[in-house]
Amino acid sequence: MGIVALISWLIAMVAVSVMTYKLHHKRKEAVANEDESLLLKIKYKQNVVYTLVVSIAIIGASVIYYFFVKNTVYESHFFQWLNLFVRWIHITFGIAWIGASFYFVFLENALNRTKDVRNELAGNLWAVHGGGFYYVEKYKLAPKKIPKDLHWFKYEAYFTWLSGFTLLMIVYYFNAKSYLIDTNVLDLTPFQAIGISSISFIVGWIVYDQFCKRITNKIAFIISMLLFVVFFAWFYSQVFSGRAAYIHFGALLGTLMAANVFFVIIPGQKRMVAAALKGEQPNPEDGKAAFIRSYTNNYFTLPVLFVMISNHFPSTFGHTYQWLVLLIITFGSAGVKHYLNLREKEQLSIWVFPISILMLLAAAYVTAPTIKSEGCEEQVTTTEVHAIIQNRCVTCHSSKPTDKVWKVAPNGVKYDTEEQILNLKNKIFQRVVVSKNMPFANQTKMTQEERDIIACWFNQQLKK
Ligand code: HEC
Repeated sequence: MGIVALISWLIAMVAVSVMTYKLHHKRKEAVANEDESLLLKIKYKQNVVYTLVVSIAIIGASVIYYFFVKNTVYESHFFQWLNLFVRWIHITFGIAWIGASFYFVFLENALNRTKDVRNELAGNLWAVHGGGFYYVEKYKLAPKKIPKDLHWFKYEAYFTWLSGFTLLMIVYYFNAKSYLIDTNVLDLTPFQAIGISSISFIVGWIVYDQFCKRITNKIAFIISMLLFVVFFAWFYSQVFSGRAAYIHFGALLGTLMAANVFFVIIPGQKRMVAAALKGEQPNPEDGKAAFIRSYTNNYFTLPVLFVMISNHFPSTFGHTYQWLVLLIITFGSAGVKHYLNLREKEQLSIWVFPISILMLLAAAYVTAPTIKSEGCEEQVTTTEVHAIIQNRCVTCHSSKPTDKVWKVAPNGVKYDTEEQILNLKNKIFQRVVVSKNMPFANQTKMTQEERDIIACWFNQQLKK
């Protein structure tokens, strides 16, 4: 099976390479003959072939690789690399998208709207970057003649969403039992959990879309959005593991952002361009609809980024009321964005920034562990702790792990010697006593007494 797939893949790669080669030369001919309509057709074909090359190369190669390693000891190794690659793609497109978004929001906010502005313009802006001077003009509605080479910003958004969803599948759907589901929260089967996950994105979009279309009063809209955000933060924490709840909240906001671009902003822009081409006035409703969407997207950016990173910090999602922590982070970081918006518009704001930062600090404060030291009368030696760790941790965390899945010490954390244990005491305490998410999925069956011993040992080490 693997061999057949490999050979078909090689043939497909050769075929698309030949097509690329042929089209490249045809394009040169068309340029030489100044054949505009042929050139357009070739450009279109080149885009299609390019998409084929990229998808066949990446998806095909991954699938084939998987065929070869399936049910072998290398299977989880394969998933780590796949995870790494997709994550890399996701971050790259995400940076491009959010970067462009920040740039345009800045442009809009900082536009010179008064000095030497031609009548048809909303404003202009001078900038210097990368050793060159740039001059940008924004039109009130549209230029009289729409230029042929109009650059659109949309693939950044689509590819960020696609790679993000792929990553969600790789991390959470393929390993639903260990990452998505927490039986202490709700006893779901992987099928049910994945169902809830994907349906929640669709329902979230439908509700949000209706809010945008129907609620015209600004205050009412803001209140509805606050309730929306509170509901989903709470809902996810009632069905998934803490970590999955966070990523779903981020993924939901990210989905709304990408769907805004796909379903509303880009189609609206297409209609505006079509109207301008016909010499008609663009429909101002399209502009208004796009504005609400861009407006909410703008406030989603920082919360989404924070949530994505927080997934690597168990003190956030590991809290008992993790959804409240999530909301504090969401409102605090949206507040920071609000402050940046005001500042770019040169509007006075005194309280927005300090209050937002206070909220974020409050999140750090409320998640601080309660460290009790009663019941620790007896001195715990590092040798005792070493013995516990040898029993419960070194199957994964050593220079030669014996675990089936983790062939290399996770995150490079090793506990072979007492010195290593002492150096890492803070992290050990954090994971074993506070967030209790180590040993991984408690595979080595650590007991609560052992966690208590480590808590006492940590306290006594601090007092030394
Ligand atoms: C079954 C394998 C396994 C066992 C057993 C295990 N861990 Fe881990 N550990 C992991 C994995 C995988 C990660 C990386 C994922 C994560 O950070 O959640 C990790 C990460 C960590 C980290 C975070 C390191 C960092 O730099 O962020 C600490 C600390 C840790 N483990 C401590 C322990 C302790 C202490 C024990 C024993 C009580 C233990 N682990 C047992 C698999 C294991």
